[in-house]
Amino acid sequence: MGRFPHFFSLLPIFSLTVIFLSTTIALPQPAAALPLSTDSRWIVDETGRRVKLSCVNWASHLDAVVAEGLSKQPIDSISKKIVSMGFNCVRLTWPLFLATNDSLANTTVRQSFRNLGLIESIAGFQVNNPSIIDHSLISAFQAVVSSLGDNNVMVILDNHISKPGWCCSKFDGSGFFGDQYFNPDLWIKGLTMMASLFKGTPNVVGMSLRNELHAPKKMSMIGTGPAQQGAKQHKVIFHPLTGQCIHRKSLLEPLKLGPCTDSEAWSYNTQQKTLTIKGTYFCLQAAGLNKPAKLGVICSDSTSKWELISDSKMHLSSKLTTDGAAVCLDVDPSSNIIITNNCKCLNRDNMCDPGSQWFKIVNSTRSSSVTTLFFGFNSVFDFLRNNMLGSLVDSA
Ligand SMILES: *[C@@H]1O[C@H](CO)[C@@H](O)[C@H](O)[C@H]1NC(C)=O
Ligand SMILES: *[C@@H]1O[C@H](CO)[C@@H](O)[C@H](O)[C@H]1NC(C)=O
Ligand SMILES: *[C@@H]1O[C@H](CO)[C@@H](O)[C@H](O)[C@H]1NC(C)=O
Repeated sequence: MGRFPHFFSLLPIFSLTVIFLSTTIALPQPAAALPLSTDSRWIVDETGRRVKLSCVNWASHLDAVVAEGLSKQPIDSISKKIVSMGFNCVRLTWPLFLATNDSLANTTVRQSFRNLGLIESIAGFQVNNPSIIDHSLISAFQAVVSSLGDNNVMVILDNHISKPGWCCSKFDGSGFFGDQYFNPDLWIKGLTMMASLFKGTPNVVGMSLRNELHAPKKMSMIGTGPAQQGAKQHKVIFHPLTGQCIHRKSLLEPLKLGPCTDSEAWSYNTQQKTLTIKGTYFCLQAAGLNKPAKLGVICSDSTSKWELISDSKMHLSSKLTTDGAAVCLDVDPSSNIIITNNCKCLNRDNMCDPGSQWFKIVNSTRSSSVTTLFFGFNSVFDFLRNNMLGSLVDSA
């Protein structure tokens, strides 16, 4: 197999499932009392205690359809190693055909290695995991889940690809619904089969429905394909809690949350830390505690500098005075107006909910109709800036 490093490959960001990762690897956590459920925005265990999933990827979707590393170490040692590193969960990958092709599922581990000419792996497997070498591939997969369960490790079953093998290339036929190996009906059948197989297995806490969808069909669909490449890239300021973006109806109204499709095109200057509306002089500014954020044209002072603070890098923070305390961008829940407030949940209080203060500066290539509105005003500001603000600043 010789592919042990894949064992620790990172979780693909664009998988169809959102997986909550804690930002730091903690000491081994007490085992969650399964099953899990949700309580408002939290994942909790049966006792109502909050559970954070810290998952590591374990690949079992490659050509041999056997969890990687089992020729090198006993299953139980690997499970224990995972726990000792502070993880409480494994994202265990599987190829669709393991669930839809009986003759593949019934192939034994030994046969599967032999078919690939991996004689050395058979020898290693025989030494390290003799009890499963003559099991079928599907039963070896279950043995991995069960060993993880014995060690209180939760499992997310991840349908990674259809045909066993490395994911992903543009031409693997597994990238998008309707591709050569991606028949949506078969996919649903496979997901159903896996869900039924593990229905009674308490440590299986979730399924990720499909690993990163990829080219070429998806590209034309989401509009980042060749036709769109001429489109100008800009940023939008996204508010994950509501799924909306910072948005301004007119110059006279305060900034509010609104649909991302109508959002202004922003740009973030990583040196000066300013957030400006593209093609204008307007920058985002903090006006005071619990006051609406505003747009200004003199963008050099501390109220115009926005830094991503906290472990999550999701708080957008500014300072009201150069040496003052930080304030964070927030949303007034009743009016949806963007305000600045004391930053919350920067300590490690497990039950503190920072959601309203989470923002993410995201790339977008969607054309923005609102920006054009500002071009008109911008010439007015050009005039003001050149003819009045300049002299005000000079005389100050
Ligand atoms: C594979 O195994 C299952 C059950 O283990 C059995 O029902 C099925 O007939 C087998 N299929 C083949 C092709 O051997
Ligand atoms: C099912 O699996 C067998 C054994 O790996 C393989 O030979 C066959 O081509 C597969 N069938 C399909 C339809 O993928
Ligand atoms: C966003 O765009 C910038 C500039 O084009 C690029 O460097 C960066 O990698 C992009 N970020 C993401 C997450 O795509």
